[in-house]
Amino acid sequence: MDQYVVFGNPIGHSKSPLIHRLFAEQTGEYLEYATLLAPLDAFSDCAWGFFKQGSGANVTVPFKEEAYRLCDSLTPRAQRAGAVNTLSKLEDGTLQGDNTDGAGLVRDLTVNAGVELAGKRILILGAGGAVRGVLEPLLAHQPQSVVVANRTVEKAEQLAHEFDELGPVVASGFAWLHEPVDLIINATSASLAGELPPIADSLVEAGRTACYDMMYAKAPTPFCQWAANLGAAKVLDGLGMLAEQAAEAFFIWRGVRPDTAPVLAELRRQLARG
Ligand SMILES: NC(=O)c1ccc[n+]([C@@H]2O[C@H](COP(=O)([O-])OP(=O)(O)OC[C@H]3O[C@@H](n4cnc5c(N)ncnc54)[C@H](OP(=O)(O)O)[C@@H]3O)[C@@H](O)[C@H]2O)c1
Repeated sequence: MDQYVVFGNPIGHSKSPLIHRLFAEQTGEYLEYATLLAPLDAFSDCAWGFFKQGSGANVTVPFKEEAYRLCDSLTPRAQRAGAVNTLSKLEDGTLQGDNTDGAGLVRDLTVNAGVELAGKRILILGAGGAVRGVLEPLLAHQPQSVVVANRTVEKAEQLAHEFDELGPVVASGFAWLHEPVDLIINATSASLAGELPPIADSLVEAGRTACYDMMYAKAPTPFCQWAANLGAAKVLDGLGMLAEQAAEAFFIWRGVRPDTAPVLAELRRQLARG
């Protein structure tokens, strides 16, 4: 049976085995998918060991950049992102790296949540690996503007500089922003610490601004609570992005696109149970 894993450290919490088991059941694909805890200093050895037999792997924190360096070849979007979350063993035995995070976010926003991106003003909070992965697919939808705001402004400036040939993207600090926007994406890990990036309430126009936190949790994240209190038109968390990036990986490996709706509903039920 074809073997797949998700590499990470820690990895015990990963929902990827459940997601891919449900995708496999739904599509009639015959595969095994497990977690693989890679030592922090030995990801490459662990990956090469797995790929003696394995067919494909997902990669999560903190190995996405190392996976990028490990691959024999990269898709254009992985090349642009500088990070890899999906590894595939090709027929000639070489490893190809892809990045499905951006496609997952954009599909969750546009298809699942019905959020329009073309001609809109988008604010992204954060300038880490996740933002690097989502800028290209967001800009491909031709928004009016994308502002990348980060605590460490130099990192936002670096990203804006790297991506500005693809569309209207500029950098900012949090304190400089006051005008309402159409969409705010929280791609900081502030929610992990129960914190909210220090941004002005005036960025949300009640009934118009959609707010998306890439994080998800049993209870609404601080960012989602903030957005709901201000009357945001839509308040969304990153569970859909998780399901969609996995579906994109499944499609790369198996050539079949699973229906994410029932899988997302099951993830939501399990998250609520805690
Ligand atoms: N749903 C999904 O499928 C999915 C996929 C990918 C990522 N994510 C989530 O997206 C988030 C970002 O991931 P990443 O890989 O980009 O992480 P990362 O590379 O570690 O970047 C973290 C970012 O958060 C900022 N930050 C951290 N603590 C902060 C605070 N207290 N206040 C303001 N900013 C803060 C950092 O700012 P500095 O640069 O100033 O340190 C940086 O911009 C994580 O929560 C991750 O779980 C979700």
